[in-house]
Amino acid sequence: MSKRIPLIAGNWKMNKTATEATELVQALSATIGKESNVHVVLCPPFTALERVSGLLEGTHLVLGAQNAHDKVSGAFTGEVSVVMLRDLHVTYVILGHSERRAIFGETDAFVNRKVLSALEASLRPILCVGETLAEREAGKAFEVVKTQLEAGLAGVNQAKSDQVVIAYEPVWAIGTGKTATPAMAQEVHAFIRATLNTLFGIEAASRMRILYGGSMKPDNADALLAEKDIDGGLIGGAALEAKSFTELVRSAARSVSR
Ligand code: 13P
Repeated sequence: MSKRIPLIAGNWKMNKTATEATELVQALSATIGKESNVHVVLCPPFTALERVSGLLEGTHLVLGAQNAHDKVSGAFTGEVSVVMLRDLHVTYVILGHSERRAIFGETDAFVNRKVLSALEASLRPILCVGETLAEREAGKAFEVVKTQLEAGLAGVNQAKSDQVVIAYEPVWAIGTGKTATPAMAQEVHAFIRATLNTLFGIEAASRMRILYGGSMKPDNADALLAEKDIDGGLIGGAALEAKSFTELVRSAARSVSR
């Protein structure tokens, strides 16, 4: 099995002006800018991408975006394409976040087109999957995650699979302070890995990173990251402060040596 380098991605959501982003990125470059046994991705809002892109030059921190449209250009008022992101040196793009699905009505089919478009432009998708509380209580968590994975990854070939990162974000844990226990999260991560095995083969699936997201904080990160199939985190609230995000990155770096 290949050894996976952990990845910590900060999803800033609709927070931080370009001016506020500058302060946060300067603080993060000082604390974690040279950390090398963990990959760190910052996903500011579109309006701060160019500023952050410039600030990340010469650091090990990598730029991500929070969404993209599947078309390269055209009459899609208010949308941003993968090619535009690439031009700003964006490397990763979060796709299919539960907030996009629930608030903006994004379907699996639309998310799939975005994934294919991102890969075509050499962007690395962070495909988000996860069940709601009602789905979990109805015993449907695995079924929901499987459908989102299979539909979201339709048409992705094995050669490109290692460009894809999966984020398991149980909707009931996002921004609520309720985290899945490490055992609960690992159970779903193992199921995701098994689904990826079927889609891409064991070798390719063993190289793919599966992040956990949903109230991951410095005080619960070590235990989550110690699980075999949890390869990092997609962080919301705790990514907005340099101190907590730095602690999460250090936690991921420690998890490698354990
Ligand atoms: P919180 O860390 O604030 O729960 O958000 C998780 C998330 O949605 C990251 O994409």
